[in-house]
Amino acid sequence: MTKHPSLVPDRAAIERRTVSYIRAEDATAEDVALLDEHWMSFRAGTADRVLAYLPLLRDSAEGERVDRYVHSLQTASRALRDGAEDELVVAALLHDVGDLLAPDNHSEFAASLLQPYVSRTTHWIVKHHGIFQSYYFLHHKGKDRNLRDQFRGHPAFEKTVEFCAKWDQASFDPSYDTLPLETFEPIVRRVFGRAPWSAEGPPL
Ligand SMILES: [Fe+2]
Ligand SMILES: [Fe+2]
Repeated sequence: MTKHPSLVPDRAAIERRTVSYIRAEDATAEDVALLDEHWMSFRAGTADRVLAYLPLLRDSAEGERVDRYVHSLQTASRALRDGAEDELVVAALLHDVGDLLAPDNHSEFAASLLQPYVSRTTHWIVKHHGIFQSYYFLHHKGKDRNLRDQFRGHPAFEKTVEFCAKWDQASFDPSYDTLPLETFEPIVRRVFGRAPWSAEGPPL
């Protein structure tokens, strides 16, 4: 199939060209236009990079009966089988993607990754899932398991409880029929292929 040339940037040709400056203060309009061209070409590969990164979660913290990669796939499998919309399936797939690089604020990491492409509600769910998920653990450390209660009344509160109860906390099962990453590829491409929200903020 012949692809429309305007939709398929000639990456090799683009990469042969570089800006004229070595200090940004000397940039010209042509330089900025060239960088925009590079940027659009690079940005089009975001879904590919996300998909390539996910299997690295196999090397996250150990101790669970499934690794973080399987946990992520299983969380997304449950979301998909429950008929969740695209962005919630992707949220389920990526909710722990920050475990490797941001172990102390992994929820915010994943939320930031998704923010330009999803609703405020989905962003809020991912950003707060760590606190809501702690409901299942904190009391065993003598702490208050109800930290989530500080958000009671928020429009996304119940959906976040549900995200954790139905999908996240239930997805540590080695015997579950977890779907492979290939199942989620088109969904990830659809969500990351959306036009990112503009300066006015994300859609409701
Ligand atoms: Fe998490
Ligand atoms: Fe999780």
